[in-house]
Amino acid sequence: MSQYLAAPERALTLNDLRRLRAAGEPIVALTAYDASFAAVMDAAGVEYVLVGDSLGMVVQGQQTTVPVTVEDICYHTRSVARGLRRAVLVADMPFGSFNSVGQALDNAVRLMQAGAQMVKLEATGRQADLVASMAERGIPVCAHIGLQPQLVHKLGGYRVQGRDAEGAAAMRDDARTLVEAGADMLLIECVSSPLAAQITRASAVPVIGIGAGAEVDGQVLVLYDVLGISIGRTPRFARNFLADHGDIGGAIAAYVHAVKTRAFPAAGERFD
Ligand code: KIV
Repeated sequence: MSQYLAAPERALTLNDLRRLRAAGEPIVALTAYDASFAAVMDAAGVEYVLVGDSLGMVVQGQQTTVPVTVEDICYHTRSVARGLRRAVLVADMPFGSFNSVGQALDNAVRLMQAGAQMVKLEATGRQADLVASMAERGIPVCAHIGLQPQLVHKLGGYRVQGRDAEGAAAMRDDARTLVEAGADMLLIECVSSPLAAQITRASAVPVIGIGAGAEVDGQVLVLYDVLGISIGRTPRFARNFLADHGDIGGAIAAYVHAVKTRAFPAAGERFD
């Protein structure tokens, strides 16, 4: 359990995540879709629990996250909320749920009323107005930059983002614009470690990485990758923690320990 949190048994808030960043202690994040797994990860010390639209692929068996609806995320958010005592609960805004400021606000409110304490959305600087409107209305936002799986059909696949100078500069600009607009956290996916480290150093808010190397403020993985049960190919940046542990609680505790001690991600689990 964190040495930096005064009363670790109480429910954590965004301020606690900021405190962890300020203390240089990695934030541990993981996805969850139901109450039982949520309770196990909560007890193991996971601090940020994400009801990700990855549920479309790992729970529903869809090819992409595109078919996931706001109703789906609300249903799973309500379930996960019942399993949590301590972790901050974050809900994903699915594809097509934030096409205008009004629609984004209405859907974010639904997710907050389902039990989320923060919403996450795949955004660029062009969505700064959405982020600003949410911030004004007291809805905490985690802006997801780098690889944005909801854009898979436009991108033509899942690839490391920001590889060339222009792409890297655009991502740095997006990060700055979104934080200036009021984003409370950033989540950065599938980006080279040096670029993620630069963005993290320049950021005024905590940055959680997935496939973004070790020099970020925290790590997130899809639960089913941690348990080695995802359908299809496991991404190179994920690790099966169940393989060396007898049970699911042990595997999640090992993940928490590996993130806290910076043993995860290791050299082969990042893009340099
Ligand atoms: O939907 C999800 O699970 C996510 C993670 C990959 C961070 O966005």
